[in-house]
Amino acid sequence: MTQDELKALVGRAALAQVKPGTVVGVGTGSTVNHFIDALATMKADLLGAVSSSVASSERLRAHGIRVLEAAEVESLPVYVDGADEIDPQGHMIKGGGAALTREKIVADLAERFVCIADASKQVPVLGAYPLPVEVIPMAAAQVARRFAAAYGGTATLRAGVVTDNGNAILDVRGLRITDPLAMETEVNQWPGVVTVGIFARHRASVCLLGTADGVKELNF
Ligand code: A5P
Repeated sequence: MTQDELKALVGRAALAQVKPGTVVGVGTGSTVNHFIDALATMKADLLGAVSSSVASSERLRAHGIRVLEAAEVESLPVYVDGADEIDPQGHMIKGGGAALTREKIVADLAERFVCIADASKQVPVLGAYPLPVEVIPMAAAQVARRFAAAYGGTATLRAGVVTDNGNAILDVRGLRITDPLAMETEVNQWPGVVTVGIFARHRASVCLLGTADGVKELNF
């Protein structure tokens, strides 16, 4: 199976995690796009969705699925999203699509984070994938220097990208993230950092992993 077929497989499998009569949290990315397409088949049974990006909202609306603002709900039973990397504890790197801040906001509303990913995203230790960090543009150089000093990472500005919140993205290479919670907590304190793309505090509750042998369910 191709990587896209594996993404489609887990996108469809995630439907079973959505209870009829509820509002579902919806992430961003090519795997989630398959989930949104599958979600259209149960739209009559759904109260609506809270989305983590303009792109996902547009896709949901195109399928006739009602999109609610995060402010309209107090909690969500489930948030479904992809990942760039996921480790054996369910910690993730996210933000390859630059939507990390809204993803963390919607994940924070949810009781369960359902990660959907193809098997290439499973890693023993986070960090081979460049860590995305959303920053206020005036702080980008400062935050990049701080990454080098604190963790030996090399941060580069993602060219031509402005987030849905009007900010910039730094991609940090050369990290080996052995304590994701500690790094997330530390980096989020740095002035100018909006969100670091480590999801440790909001790690996955379950991961539906697309493999050549089918969908593997990992519970954390
Ligand atoms: C979006 O900002 C990301 O967090 C995505 O969830 C992540 O990059 C996975 O994307 P794909 O599903 O496209 O691989």
